[in-house]
Amino acid sequence: MITEELPQHLREFLENYFTHFSNNIPLKRPYITLSYGMSMDGKIATYTGDSKYISNGLTRAMVHELRHHHDAILVGIQTVEIDHPFLTTRRNEKPNKDAHRIILDSSLRINLKEPLLHMVSSAPTLVVCKQTANEVKIKALEALGVNVLVDPTPSQHVDLDWLMQTLHQNGIRSLLVEGGGTIHFSFIKHNLFDDIFAQISPLILGGKDAKSPVEGQGFTTLKEATRVAFEKYFQVGSDIVVYAKNLARES
Ligand SMILES: NC(=O)c1ccc[n+]([C@@H]2O[C@H](COP(=O)([O-])OP(=O)(O)OC[C@H]3O[C@@H](n4cnc5c(N)ncnc54)[C@H](OP(=O)(O)O)[C@@H]3O)[C@@H](O)[C@H]2O)c1
Repeated sequence: MITEELPQHLREFLENYFTHFSNNIPLKRPYITLSYGMSMDGKIATYTGDSKYISNGLTRAMVHELRHHHDAILVGIQTVEIDHPFLTTRRNEKPNKDAHRIILDSSLRINLKEPLLHMVSSAPTLVVCKQTANEVKIKALEALGVNVLVDPTPSQHVDLDWLMQTLHQNGIRSLLVEGGGTIHFSFIKHNLFDDIFAQISPLILGGKDAKSPVEGQGFTTLKEATRVAFEKYFQVGSDIVVYAKNLARES
């Protein structure tokens, strides 16, 4: 049941959209959705890192609906360090289902006091690191009930192809990637996404150091740029939600 506070046409769209997750069988990876809330000038936080909240309450309700229906949510370590998120599902509609929480943290620098490591949830938290991560820190996280997954590949950061295969093998069929921009670029560069929910709010943040939804190095030329198709857009209170599909998606 989709939360009734959302506009009717968005609810109908989401009901159909959630059925896509089971259509990904040949890919052997989860269905991957990117989601971010940005200002009209394309920023996901101010230059000081303030991002709570850019989107209005209704749009945030939609994001909680996305969380409720995905098997897992993934964020980068910098989002954890700056936002201290809980990554739980908080909808008016009950019951709520938390998704598995996945944090990409190559060197395991996560602060053991992070609130999301100390809360009650029906879903597990998984921190993914590289083999160079400190053994003592791994044990300390495990003592808190956190699962630690060590990436055995030689890449500098967490290898997304390996991770997506591993998650799929462990029954994760849908993954909501909730930033930040560095993580989003990695998924886009590796063509590891199916679609995007971009939530645009009527405010302007400015600032050359304010983060955008897709950071990283970026593509060199327009020819290399990832192409998407604007499939739908929704007025959600004062915000606009654009739903776009990856045109280079493998099938
Ligand atoms: N408005 C929104 O919707 C929204 C949502 C989320 C975040 N944000 C904002 O975004 C900002 C944080 O974004 P960010 O771009 O600085 O950081 P981020 O994307 O949250 O985290 C990036 C870090 O993840 C780690 N990582 C591990 N494996 C990776 C891989 N394969 N590819 C890329 N990174 C990998 C890297 O550190 P290691 O290599 O050390 O692990 C990297 O520095 C915050 O200001 C936050 O408020 C806004």
